[in-house]
Amino acid sequence: MDRPINRRITLAARPQGMVAESCFARDEVPAPSPGEGEALVRTLYLSIDPTIRGWMERDTYLPAIAIGDPVRSGAVAEVVESRNPAYAVGDRVFGMVGWQDYALVDSGAAAMQVLPPGIEPTDALGIYGITGLTAWFGLLDLGQPKQGETVLVSGAAGATGSVVGQLAKIHGCRAVGIAGGPEKCRFVTEDCGFDACIDYKAGDVGRGIAEHCPHGVDVFFDNVGGDILDAALLRINQRARVVLCGAIASYNDAEPPPGPRNLMQLVIQRARMEGFIVLDYLPRFPEAMADLAKHVAEGRIHHRVDVVEGLERAPEALLRLFSGANLGKQLVKVAD
Ligand SMILES: NC(=O)c1ccc[n+]([C@@H]2O[C@H](COP(=O)([O-])OP(=O)(O)OC[C@H]3O[C@@H](n4cnc5c(N)ncnc54)[C@H](OP(=O)(O)O)[C@@H]3O)[C@@H](O)[C@H]2O)c1
Repeated sequence: MDRPINRRITLAARPQGMVAESCFARDEVPAPSPGEGEALVRTLYLSIDPTIRGWMERDTYLPAIAIGDPVRSGAVAEVVESRNPAYAVGDRVFGMVGWQDYALVDSGAAAMQVLPPGIEPTDALGIYGITGLTAWFGLLDLGQPKQGETVLVSGAAGATGSVVGQLAKIHGCRAVGIAGGPEKCRFVTEDCGFDACIDYKAGDVGRGIAEHCPHGVDVFFDNVGGDILDAALLRINQRARVVLCGAIASYNDAEPPPGPRNLMQLVIQRARMEGFIVLDYLPRFPEAMADLAKHVAEGRIHHRVDVVEGLERAPEALLRLFSGANLGKQLVKVAD
């Protein structure tokens, strides 16, 4: 039987510095046929995440992508052939697929979850996907915001940061964002309802934090690292919680950046700084999704996606995260 063509974008070379087109190779191969216990899925949307840059370079909390393999990526896909009773043809599923049109799934290491009815594929990768869940667990479990406290969020216009600030408001806090440019700051305050947003591209971030967090910072949710982390440390209150979610400012650095200079603030303020990986919370994902769904239904969380059309544009979509071109959760639409 003729097999459909599987377009693939594979890892050709590990990035050194900024991700470049030369890191990728493109080919077309016949889609694999599912064996007993497998199903063939067709990719609909890819989730484009900053962590892909790390997976391309080295072992992190997941092994590095092997040279020659499709670039690893979260996705929503549709089952098109099945020899596994867990998947029916036409089911929409989400999980790890890779930058390709077709992939095999099974019930073991390559399993995907069937999308609950009523959930849009784009929402499954956005507000109910890794970024929404990261916001929820990072803020509520590690940040532990209390009514009346000030929560400062870097990367505030992004998929994760925008949800963090809105959850902070729901929990009775003052939410202050840090984002790049007037359009993003307008989105953060007007659409997402943060109390203030500091444009880190327009002026001194430390001064902005002092102005907009007059009572100091109780929770700093950091997506960026570098100078922004250092500036925030200078304004933390006693017993502050610094949630290290990511450090996108340095993901493309050829050398690790110098460490924060203001770490003594943790001692002086008896504060805590802690990192996390959202995948560790897998068993609790349903709890977070239910809470997020309630807030979305009540109109208390505004969320948006930024869709680039075409599998071939996945590398470009990844670069949008590092230039800040994305406004909302970055996705690539591969098929209808
Ligand atoms: N710990 C976990 O389990 C986990 C899970 C998911 C994501 N994360 C982390 O969460 C962060 C946000 O990820 P996301 O998927 O939600 O992406 P996102 O925030 O939607 O997009 C990335 C944003 O980062 C900002 N950025 C890029 N380079 C920057 C720089 N040099 N300085 C300051 N800001 C910069 C840009 O916004 P501006 O235009 O405002 O600069 C860009 O839009 C990342 O650090 C990611 O690694 C962690």
